[in-house]
Amino acid sequence: MLDIARIRADTPSAQDNVFLASAGSSLMPAPVVRVMRDYLDLEAALGGYEAYGREQRRVDAAYDSAARLIGAHPQEIAFMESATAAWQMAFYSMPFKEGDVVLTGEAEYGANFVALLHLRRRTGIEIQVVPSDEAGEIDLEALRRMISPRVRLICLTWIPTNGGLVNPAEEVGKIAHDHGIAYLLDACQALGQLPVDVQSLRCDMLSATGRKFLRGPRGTGFLYVRSGFMPQLEPHTIDHFSAPWVERNRYELRDGARRYETWESNYVARMGLGAAMDYAMGIGLTAIQERCAALAARLRAGLQDLPTAAMRDLGRKPSAIVSFTIDGKPAEHVAAQAAKAGIVLGVTLPSGTRLDAERRDLPPLVRASPHYFNTEQEIDGLLDFLRRV
Ligand SMILES: Cc1ncc(COP(=O)(O)O)c(C=O)c1O
Repeated sequence: MLDIARIRADTPSAQDNVFLASAGSSLMPAPVVRVMRDYLDLEAALGGYEAYGREQRRVDAAYDSAARLIGAHPQEIAFMESATAAWQMAFYSMPFKEGDVVLTGEAEYGANFVALLHLRRRTGIEIQVVPSDEAGEIDLEALRRMISPRVRLICLTWIPTNGGLVNPAEEVGKIAHDHGIAYLLDACQALGQLPVDVQSLRCDMLSATGRKFLRGPRGTGFLYVRSGFMPQLEPHTIDHFSAPWVERNRYELRDGARRYETWESNYVARMGLGAAMDYAMGIGLTAIQERCAALAARLRAGLQDLPTAAMRDLGRKPSAIVSFTIDGKPAEHVAAQAAKAGIVLGVTLPSGTRLDAERRDLPPLVRASPHYFNTEQEIDGLLDFLRRV
């Protein structure tokens, strides 16, 4: 059982508004903010290098936290400023050649898909989109049929930006593993919402962000690269941190995933991300998943009873990202009216997941993403508001 009163006491701003936008950028818990303020004060007092010299152990503990959070080794973690930067580092570092095939799903995130188009133009890779099954999940049978010697990478968005779909990431990992194909998993909307274990996912690379369900600061994310896969994934760009300049005409790639980082980064934000990961693990990812699922189920049940609402989620066991439309009311209007009523919702646009949006002819959708700090009363309050809007 979660101690909701304590959790809400740690999130004072949850009292100001009904905050249902954790899939966008969630509310940071007070311990995360405190850690960042303290470190910022230290940098202000000592200068950044001296501050790090004093606090190196605590700053670097974030690698251990990230590794524990996803069942990896600290040497397999690289910190980045976003999930997109992490995904790009992995994708653009793949040694593609003309004619290589990349398989992806219909829920792939916009930033990822434009990068696929970019490398198709520059390198001549071929993009093949695996169709979805009747529930809207990536069709595993179709995926199996599409495997060929030309397939170099499978990239999958586990939970998309535009709704409740949870793709069968583990089953895809098994297929990739059985065929010896590299597997890049976008876990951006999964991390902090449910347990993540790279061993059972069998992904070679995983990208994640800090500010969404993890409740960390903006401008943070990380990349996991399986250590056995690292020799095949030379970073697409380097500096003298990722690859120390050891002789006049020679550099050496750093051991471990820090070869994907650069010298400079935001240590205040990293401290915050580390604290956010520790906070989530302190609560427990299984408990978080159960609470998120229960709140989302309550919302979906209420929407089902609302004649003006159309639910837009896909998948057999949807996540805590609830997408819907209200008859005759544009999503932007619903979200703006909700904001006036003190309810924070998101809007997801077709351009974020264009393949899915075109296939289902989706307009902009209202997106409500409850987190464990929300209450049943808040969900009911949203439903009341939607009845009136
Ligand atoms: C599925 C998915 N992948 C990737 C991203 C990109 O994350 P970031 O903005 O941290 O780069 C998002 C952001 O909404 C997302 O929903």
